[in-house]
Amino acid sequence: MNKPILVTGGTGTLGRAVVARLLADGLPVRVMSRRPRPTGDDRPYEWAVCDLAKGTGLDAALADVRAVVHCATNARNDVATTRRLAEAARRSGSQGPHLVYISIVGIDDVPLPYYRSKRAAERIVRESGLPWTILRTTQFHDLVATMTAVQRRLPVVLTLSGVRVQPVEVTEVADRLAELVQGAPTGRVPDMAGPEVRDARDLAAATLRAMGLHRRVVPLRLPGKIARTLRAGGLLAPDRAIGKVTFEQYLAGRG
Ligand SMILES: NC(=O)c1ccc[n+]([C@@H]2O[C@H](COP(=O)([O-])OP(=O)(O)OC[C@H]3O[C@@H](n4cnc5c(N)ncnc54)[C@H](OP(=O)(O)O)[C@@H]3O)[C@@H](O)[C@H]2O)c1
Repeated sequence: MNKPILVTGGTGTLGRAVVARLLADGLPVRVMSRRPRPTGDDRPYEWAVCDLAKGTGLDAALADVRAVVHCATNARNDVATTRRLAEAARRSGSQGPHLVYISIVGIDDVPLPYYRSKRAAERIVRESGLPWTILRTTQFHDLVATMTAVQRRLPVVLTLSGVRVQPVEVTEVADRLAELVQGAPTGRVPDMAGPEVRDARDLAAATLRAMGLHRRVVPLRLPGKIARTLRAGGLLAPDRAIGKVTFEQYLAGRG
């Protein structure tokens, strides 16, 4: 049981929270990153320099791991990188490590290119021959807040008209992934969504208030199938509203 759990994307928004949760549970952890370990970082985990896009450092990253939580993402090449990771994991041992993958609610319905790549990556995980678990969640609070924050220098803030989202707290997602990776492989588990279905416009206004900014929020009604499926609630899972932290609580916590 002393073999480490590899967290790909362990430096990212979700990966950092997963690493913190696993360490708090007293588990050995290996963080994967493309960059060398920062000087002075003496937290109790191993560090593996690996670039999933280039295929460098993979075998060392996967050596002797008991499980992998795959949080690394890069919109341009998630399919190839997930395939490379799964192949290296298969090479790494007889049965191979338990591969836990994070995916997104609505990827079957909303025809965004990134969602197409998430579907393909899910298929690679399912067909990898490894023991696997997949969790789909809604958008993290951080992402929703960032979509407004990046527009802070503009005279108005744009949102998508009629689109509702159900943001979830990333640390709660990390708790769930930590629970899943410590359990038996389960296949696709029930989706996880945040506590409230909210209009994107309200969330933009709440973010601006929290930032102390006065801007008009302008909802744009876009044509096309993507916008239509978003307006039809494609990002929502109201029957899976199991996250507890609301968007306002998240904003208050961010100060
Ligand atoms: N954000 C959301 O709202 C949301 C919602 C549901 C599901 N998800 C899923 O959750 C996962 C994590 O999302 P996130 O928002 O936490 O991502 P993020 O903050 O952008 O982090 C991306 C991570 O991927 C790593 N990475 C990128 N390219 C890599 C490569 N070629 N090789 C190795 N590592 C690489 C980066 O590590 P280095 O830079 O250190 O190399 C970084 O740690 C994704 O699969 C995403 O689809 C996200």
